[in-house]
Amino acid sequence: MRIILCGFGVVGQSLVKLFDSRSEDLYAKYGLKPRIVGVFDSKGSAVDSSGLDLEKLVETKKKHGSVRNYSNSKNKMSGIDMIKNLEADVLIETTASNYKDAEPGMTHITMAMKKGMHVISVNKGPLALAFPSLLELATYNQVLLKFSGTVGGGTPILDYAKDSLRGERITSFAGILNGTTNYILTNMANGLTFESALKDAKDKGYVEADEALDLDGLDAAAKLVILANWIMGMKVTMPDIKCTGIRKVTTEDIKKAAKKKCAIKLIASCNKELEVGPKEVSIDDPLCVNGTLNAIAFTSEHSGTQTIIGKGAGGMETASSILRDLLDIRQETAKN
Ligand code: HSE
Repeated sequence: MRIILCGFGVVGQSLVKLFDSRSEDLYAKYGLKPRIVGVFDSKGSAVDSSGLDLEKLVETKKKHGSVRNYSNSKNKMSGIDMIKNLEADVLIETTASNYKDAEPGMTHITMAMKKGMHVISVNKGPLALAFPSLLELATYNQVLLKFSGTVGGGTPILDYAKDSLRGERITSFAGILNGTTNYILTNMANGLTFESALKDAKDKGYVEADEALDLDGLDAAAKLVILANWIMGMKVTMPDIKCTGIRKVTTEDIKKAAKKKCAIKLIASCNKELEVGPKEVSIDDPLCVNGTLNAIAFTSEHSGTQTIIGKGAGGMETASSILRDLLDIRQETAKN
């Protein structure tokens, strides 16, 4: 399987390490031979249509801060030229999410699909702003668009609701979909101020480069959009979400909730409305997880409420979701 990798940050590098360490078993168990033929980051690119050396890619990035120095060739392709001109089967989009115009991910994804490539996106921006039209574009071009890592990272939340609950009618769901704000609220409940909890989260590398995406609820809202479209069949985008972040949550609010055996959590919910906002949750509710954990409770017509809990972020965790999507693409295309 020939792959173009867009973006070479934590997730991209983790994916390459995962492929490198699992190459024998991926082939033996699943017949999967991922061959990365092109990678680009914000500073440059590396190309080899017979497959890039994975160890060398990671070393080059570590040493030079970009894959640009992978080879001495002066003819460096831009990311756009790579998608236009390099033959590949799958494009993996890992550049940073933005909820203004979803670029550059939107261009990468649409160009690749128009060229007949299957796409795996862990970038939430394009899906949050244009989910219905991206799915239409995939159908029109007869390619697969996979995005299992956009919600829950390595925890297969989308697959659980779509596949494990097949035949069921999910009537509502609610969850903690942002690890950073959960970490901050957990630490505030343990006595830290908002400012010091935020600083601690930043020091640990949890907070997005643009902290507003976490703190103002945009990251959770993007995940809610993806869930609502994929699980509930709605056709919604970011402006359809009523969204409040955690900046106004005070230590007093948290103490008051604790007296009622509750904790304040940033909850994304789909009931009558699509909403993200701080809510009191009973500490006995399985949804009430702490630290950077994510949790989501699906309520269905016949099988009641089930809660799934797991890590919602992290390089290797998200890389494992990309592997899941690749295996699905392999299986679904083998049928044709
Ligand atoms: N900033 C996100 C979070 C990363 O904290 O959950 C994963 O989408």
